[in-house]
Amino acid sequence: MQTAAWDAYARSRPDRREANAKGETTWFNWTQYPDHGPGSEVLDLPTEGNGRVLDLGCGKGGNAAHLAGSGHRVTGVDLSGVQLSAARRRWCDRPRLELLQKSAAQYLHESDEEFDAIYSVFGALWFTDPAVLLPAARRRLRPGGVLAFSQRPPVDGCYGPQAAHIDRGPDHDPYVLRRWDHSPGTWQTMLTHAGFPHTTATVLPAPPGPQQTGTLLVTAR
Ligand SMILES: C[S@@+](CC[C@H](N)C(=O)[O-])C[C@H]1O[C@@H](n2cnc3c(N)ncnc32)[C@H](O)[C@@H]1O
Repeated sequence: MQTAAWDAYARSRPDRREANAKGETTWFNWTQYPDHGPGSEVLDLPTEGNGRVLDLGCGKGGNAAHLAGSGHRVTGVDLSGVQLSAARRRWCDRPRLELLQKSAAQYLHESDEEFDAIYSVFGALWFTDPAVLLPAARRRLRPGGVLAFSQRPPVDGCYGPQAAHIDRGPDHDPYVLRRWDHSPGTWQTMLTHAGFPHTTATVLPAPPGPQQTGTLLVTAR
């Protein structure tokens, strides 16, 4: 069911633009807003390239392709074949980008690779029980490696597993998934217990405009 839901989501979403406001053809975006927020520097990867990076819930692959184009070796995993087909079509010129259809938890349990950075942008880290995913990510990170993820901040008073709906049009009930909404402080506590002693969790404000919802950005080592 999750795969069908994410395939439906993928079909409903436009592809990433050909260029951003600066005219760049690839870029990293942590937020739900275009041309807003920090970039790949959050991951603290070697500037000369050659980092080993994992994207959990890579979607159509725009962020992963950007890192691969900067010389890092990137694996993107995603449940949705529709997302990954779009990623393969668009980024077929990136030899350092590997795309796999798997759940994030399955990949982390099966893999014996070590990563300099693991990240998730509104991705699998939001839609998987953190009690499963945080320790699994810890095991696959090199000492000093960075785990970073972004998602919408929780609605006040609505914490823990929450229902997330993916629209299926007027003739069907929406798909219902679970996502995990926690306050910045709760993420910090959970990450400490999972073996990440150095954590920052902040809500980036929305850009000027009608939308007020910020972006929760968490980084942990
Ligand atoms: C909201 S989209 C974000 C995609 C991409 N990170 C981006 O920023 O455009 C969420 C993505 O996470 C993937 N996803 C959700 N749960 C997952 C899981 N447990 N394992 C792997 N991928 C998952 C979905 O298939 C979807 O492509």
